[in-house]
Amino acid sequence: MHDKTGMDSRSPLILQRTTKEDVEKGVTVITRGEGVFVYDQEGKRYLDLVAGVTRPVHAGYGRKEIAQAVYDQICRLPYFTPMQFTNEPALQLARVLSEIAPGKISKFSFFCDGSESVEAASKLARHYHYFQGEKSRFKIISRRGAYHGVTAGALRALGTVLAMRQIMEPLMPGTVFVDSPYCYRCPLHLTYPGCDLACAKDIARAIEFENPEQVSAFIGEPIQQGFGAYAPPAEYWKIVREICDKYGIVLIIDEVICGSGELENGLASNILTSSRISSPWPRESRLATYPWGPWDAQASYGKVSRSSSICILTGIIPLPAPRP
Ligand SMILES: Cc1ncc(COP(=O)(O)O)c(C=O)c1O
Repeated sequence: MHDKTGMDSRSPLILQRTTKEDVEKGVTVITRGEGVFVYDQEGKRYLDLVAGVTRPVHAGYGRKEIAQAVYDQICRLPYFTPMQFTNEPALQLARVLSEIAPGKISKFSFFCDGSESVEAASKLARHYHYFQGEKSRFKIISRRGAYHGVTAGALRALGTVLAMRQIMEPLMPGTVFVDSPYCYRCPLHLTYPGCDLACAKDIARAIEFENPEQVSAFIGEPIQQGFGAYAPPAEYWKIVREICDKYGIVLIIDEVICGSGELENGLASNILTSSRISSPWPRESRLATYPWGPWDAQASYGKVSRSSSICILTGIIPLPAPRP
């Protein structure tokens, strides 16, 4: 792949998670996709077993109905400021979600990727405390082994991929890690059920140590995927919920990669980050944060390029069954 259209070490393009040696060997350029297959420049066909990377293309490649809907929306209205205005896809998607969202989740906001949703969720938690008069709450508790994205705020909740995290240290102030519910190699060297869910109960100890008046939120994926796929024991989230209630802490459930937790584990999050990639719901947002609570979420954060009508639109296009 060293021809003038391929990619080699002379290319000005920077790649993600690709070593210098990989680039020197030559990087395959993928030119098109159809159904579950992608094709390189020489026409070689690959079965895309991971749907992109971590499943973003589970609808399959070459979906003309999606392309058409996006094309139509670009022609009609590609973007207009989300400050003091909104657009039809945003209203429509929020309405659809309000009919199917679990628990008390009833308000929605839309973002373009998972990291941004996690950023927004952690800011929203601070907004909540701020408007409750608890302005000292800023710390976020995450779990060793977690993955919540790579932007600065999301990175601070990144309990895994040590190299990635360490290069970017110091992390944002207020980063606190506790152990994961990882029964196979329990970090506390205990065995379930004799452990009495020490990993969950330890969260209260961490909160006491950090000063409950400074802790804003606890964030976790329902089933952790950062270094495997680890479902916690059934009681885990119930205990976490009780601890969050006891200390007045916002529970953020990050379902960007795995969307079944809220429904199947009986979770009751205060803020749920989700994505069209992961959710088991029939139709929902591409990537969204669903907050509930007595706060003024409109108050003071805004971002010019969020809520693009095209990005949101991709969340409401009804998808037919996957193609073989
Ligand atoms: C649980 C979780 N949160 C957040 C993210 C970040 O999403 P994105 O890569 O779209 O920023 C991921 C990505 O895999 C994830 O698995």
